[in-house]
Amino acid sequence: MNEKIVIAKAPGRVNLIGEHTDYNEGFTLPLAIERYTTIRLQRRTSDASASRYHSLALGETTFWTPDASHFLSVEPTPTNQSSGASVAAPTWSKYVAGVINQFAQREQSVPAIDLTIETNVPLGGGVSSSAALEVAVAMAIQQLLDTKLDGLEIAKLCQQAEHDYAGVPCGLMDQLSSVFGRTNELMLMDCRTNQLEFIAASSELAFIVINSRVKHNLADGEYRQRRQQCEEACRLLGVNSLRDVETAQLESARPKMPDLVFRRARHVVSENARTVQAADYLKLGRWELAGQLMNASHVSMRQDYEITCPEIDLLVSLAQGMGLEGGVYGARMTGGGFGGCIVVLGRASHADSISAHVVAAYLAATRIQADAFTTRPAAGAWQLLQG
Ligand code: GLA
Repeated sequence: MNEKIVIAKAPGRVNLIGEHTDYNEGFTLPLAIERYTTIRLQRRTSDASASRYHSLALGETTFWTPDASHFLSVEPTPTNQSSGASVAAPTWSKYVAGVINQFAQREQSVPAIDLTIETNVPLGGGVSSSAALEVAVAMAIQQLLDTKLDGLEIAKLCQQAEHDYAGVPCGLMDQLSSVFGRTNELMLMDCRTNQLEFIAASSELAFIVINSRVKHNLADGEYRQRRQQCEEACRLLGVNSLRDVETAQLESARPKMPDLVFRRARHVVSENARTVQAADYLKLGRWELAGQLMNASHVSMRQDYEITCPEIDLLVSLAQGMGLEGGVYGARMTGGGFGGCIVVLGRASHADSISAHVVAAYLAATRIQADAFTTRPAAGAWQLLQG
């Protein structure tokens, strides 16, 4: 076992197109972003009966059993805490604990550790701060224990942690992106086989991420509901996965499907087609056509999947309104939905003016100060470790 200080780093991601397709065995087209979560950890010698996790961003420290099966305490103690009542574990610490517990469940003996988290990934903004945290923790624990899991196993372990400890039944896109991201390359993911096709991103392109700074709380329950509606659609269509459904087949089954379930399925089926097509256009340098598919994806998310919200729709229409003359090829919401970020595919030379215009117009309309940053596709945790 490694007795030294271990450091691991993993990025967030932005998804260019292919939303809510990963858990339907479909296609997505994400890129890792130049925003990272860094984990620093060391074996704990002062008290071997508890592990200590510290978040620099939140100024909170939690204590868990070394195998992370039990939460012990948090500091500072919440001020509204009546004496004797048990305190709930802060959400961020559940992601850490979930990953550590996955190692413990694989019969890896995890000692007490001191772990510190530092990050510049926007938190809760739809750019996978949770996957960045999970993957960074997993890479650090892997080094500490000297285990030999491959990248796909690491991604799946992190996804399982999110299912079990955070209660979010997510697909695998975020964890795969954070593990396998590559500098200057997009990833076309086939979420049936978990095969990745890397696509060069021209230096003339900018990926502009604008955070609406709103997050509607219903997100987790709605996510679960969408998954169930897709399963219902599969049952009615007699297929195992929406990946296997063509538009014509869906249209002909429409009379036997509730309208809501039909529209959920139509989003997934059409989004898969758009994603594969967008990847082809990007390979050919047909950016305006890829951008049009992003715009269509947003309409589908708004009308059929119903996962956008007024603030996000406003940001998207402000960006789209700039058009090709303003350097915008396309724009859409990115991530799980109900707030978070939009992604704009723009001309690199126009990135600053696009951000400035959208942020100013959004502020004028909503009084909310959005955050914007421009990123190139970045290295994932795996590449960082080898590099
Ligand atoms: C969240 C999930 C992903 C994916 C997206 C929607 O980010 O973690 O697995 O389903 O939502 O595309």
